[in-house]
Amino acid sequence: MRLPRFGVEEWLNVHEQSARYNLASVSIRSMALDELFELTRIDGSAFFQMLQKTTLNYGWIEGSPAFKEAVAGLYEHQSSDNILQTNGATGANLLALYSLVEPGDHVISLYPSYQQLYDIPKSFGAEVDFWSIKKENQWLPDLDELRQLIRPDTKLICINNANNPTGAVMDRDFLLELVDIAQSVGAYILSDEVYKTFDDSLDVPAICDLYDKGISVNSLSKTYSLPGVRIGWVAASRELCEVFRDYRDYTLICAGVFDDMVATLALQHHHAILERNKQLVLTNLKILEDWVEEEPLVSLISPAVTPTSFIQFHLDQDIEDFCLSLLKEKGVLLVPGNRFDLPGHARLGYCCQTEVLQKGLYLLSDFLKQYSCN
Ligand SMILES: Cc1ncc(COP(=O)(O)O)c(C=O)c1O
Repeated sequence: MRLPRFGVEEWLNVHEQSARYNLASVSIRSMALDELFELTRIDGSAFFQMLQKTTLNYGWIEGSPAFKEAVAGLYEHQSSDNILQTNGATGANLLALYSLVEPGDHVISLYPSYQQLYDIPKSFGAEVDFWSIKKENQWLPDLDELRQLIRPDTKLICINNANNPTGAVMDRDFLLELVDIAQSVGAYILSDEVYKTFDDSLDVPAICDLYDKGISVNSLSKTYSLPGVRIGWVAASRELCEVFRDYRDYTLICAGVFDDMVATLALQHHHAILERNKQLVLTNLKILEDWVEEEPLVSLISPAVTPTSFIQFHLDQDIEDFCLSLLKEKGVLLVPGNRFDLPGHARLGYCCQTEVLQKGLYLLSDFLKQYSCN
């Protein structure tokens, strides 16, 4: 079955390069190798010398032992055997869905979230029910609604935690109830976990650490600020990894020797990267919240200290037209909410350079002035 257009990616592909103030992307300010070397206190020339001498064969098919060990260390109960490297989180989601979903299967997907999570299972012929996020619930879905959607034949529940675009987070208590519901019918849970919360008061375990049928997907792209390193992974039980291996051979083989080297270096020093990123997320979130406070035409349910936010515009105007004019006149890029089937809103990625955020918000206010007189 043909896939529908990927709303967000299509928008970004067309407009991202022309934006002067990109408030659409939700990676935490991406790093150059220089900054990575500085953060990890690694001698860059030694790294490049090692690269020069490294044979560019297929390398380690499932990810190098050092990579797998570094990834396993991010979890409470995983070892290297539970990790498979992929081409980004997009590759990881595809791998899990391709391996598990068959025509006629019943799948429940958090909605809206990352479009892969519902349109790929649909394209494989599954019957997909939406588990809707609710604004009145701080953008979390309702567990009782899931109890109504679940069926004895439900094969898979797909979630995105934290949620893109809203930044809402399901915590341990919520996830434990979700696992109970899935377990009652033996359903798998696929959780795309590329957005981490930097709120230390929240307890947000990975789904693979809570449930033997839980599949955690992650990558270097958002939390670790290296989307240009096209590396992600799945973390799941050995039995599930065995299934994924068969499909992986057909779709990927390996994710590349150079990318593996950079990813391994970053993950071995994840504490330093997370510390850098926590400061940026906290600083920029405060700027965003203060700005919203002063903007009568905008409101926000604050994200759970994750790099994606979803603002509401109190305007009587088509949101995509609004975002196009904003880009044209002020060079500021947002993602219109209709791309997530939530018109009236826009995704605002606030974890860019602080100066870019400040200037972008200033220009957005300037642009909004024409509407405040109405
Ligand atoms: C929820 C979610 N998953 C996956 C991705 C893509 O991740 P990657 O760059 O690792 O393929 C994105 C990118 O926006 C995302 O928002």
